Amino acid sequence: MKLETFGRNEWAPAVGARLVAFLPDGRHRRVCFATGSTPEPAYAAFAAGGGALDDTEVFLLDEFLLPRGDPGRCDEMLARSLLELCPSPPLALHTFDVSAEPLDDECRRYERELDAGGLDLAILGLGANGHIGMNEPGSAADTPTRVVDLHPTTQQNAARYGATSPPSRGITIGMRAVLAAAEIWLLVTGEHKAAILNQVLTGPIGPDVPASFLRDHPNAIVIADEPATIPR
Ligand code: PGA
Repeated sequence: MKLETFGRNEWAPAVGARLVAFLPDGRHRRVCFATGSTPEPAYAAFAAGGGALDDTEVFLLDEFLLPRGDPGRCDEMLARSLLELCPSPPLALHTFDVSAEPLDDECRRYERELDAGGLDLAILGLGANGHIGMNEPGSAADTPTRVVDLHPTTQQNAARYGATSPPSRGITIGMRAVLAAAEIWLLVTGEHKAAILNQVLTGPIGPDVPASFLRDHPNAIVIADEPATIPR
């Protein structure tokens, strides 16, 4: 797995420009987008740099089990941080219906949509506990898209994102479909991510740190800012 490092202020423009280049006009792409604090400045740079999603099928990476419209939901964050900044809607938008019953059927529906063409790119953030999406510690490399119980730090994230009540569960694209993406970008910023990034890069590969499985992927890149790469 390659590591590319940028200065604190250079990181977002670099990721934004890389995404503009990855999504050329007229080329059908299928891309999974993480939400959360990390990618927001990169998505803003993408839009400011003329990025557009007209030819892109957008897949949301994960979702909290929160009522529709809750500001802490991932679909709301994706709208605020990316979709509303682009000049026109994406070619298609795949999100989770967390009110569907049974939820297991909804997970299977999403997995079928993923598998009908796969992902050209998965854009991921890194959880403070080593998760990707909501694949919490303990997630094996072959886990399907599924309902998960959230780790306390992930529940705290939802509060940080503006959730009106703390969610205890979520739905996430599983490790299997993430690792099946043709290309993966793991976005990591800030000194508070330095210790876990060091584990991802140098620790054992296994379910205790799900992001460590990216090291077995042929085309995964960590795109980090300098503060995230100084082990503490
Ligand atoms: P953050 O969350 O980008 O808000 O730090 C990342 C994650 O927990 O996946």
